[in-house]
Amino acid sequence: MSDQHVDNSKRRFLLLASSGAGAVAVAGIATPFVASFLPSERAKAAGAPVEVDISKLEMGQKVNVEWRGKPVWVVKRTKEMIDSLPKLDGELADPKSDSSDQPDYAKNEARALKPEIWVATGVCTHLGCSPTYRPDLAPADLGPGWLGGYYCPCHGSKYDLAGRVYKGVPAPLNLPIPPYKFLTDTTIRIGEDK
Ligand code: FES
Repeated sequence: MSDQHVDNSKRRFLLLASSGAGAVAVAGIATPFVASFLPSERAKAAGAPVEVDISKLEMGQKVNVEWRGKPVWVVKRTKEMIDSLPKLDGELADPKSDSSDQPDYAKNEARALKPEIWVATGVCTHLGCSPTYRPDLAPADLGPGWLGGYYCPCHGSKYDLAGRVYKGVPAPLNLPIPPYKFLTDTTIRIGEDK
């Protein structure tokens, strides 16, 4: 990408965010650019935190960053997305996230520090594929009751927009939430919350 660059003095990289191609086509969401401030390769291997600038993230968009070798998603959820969460509780295996891997501050309906910004590890709890972001409502392949969420193409597991797994799918658990904190309203540090 022509906009991609490295600033060696700050070890600053611009990462091209990725959304599922289907989500882009269906929901008309432009692929965002976000700035991510990454540590050195040695520090990354040791699991150093990663800072993400979400100032350019638009409503409904998702950006991927890497932390400890895994994809971590940051999604800016709309009010409609947040309002849809309680409607699905009866269809979910663990709606209160009692069995989930998450910090205490993410054990709530939105599974987030701030409901509008969702941070999660994008790894399916079945066998580790990365689910696809499907914010589109009632698509033909997911049915009329689909209010947006994440679909794992490997074996068909489904998660809602808070990463809570549906009943009756192969994945046993909700998507994990990594430790994170807000450094500012638009900068998140992933991998550290103290
Ligand atoms: S790895 Fe996601 S459903 Fe099997």
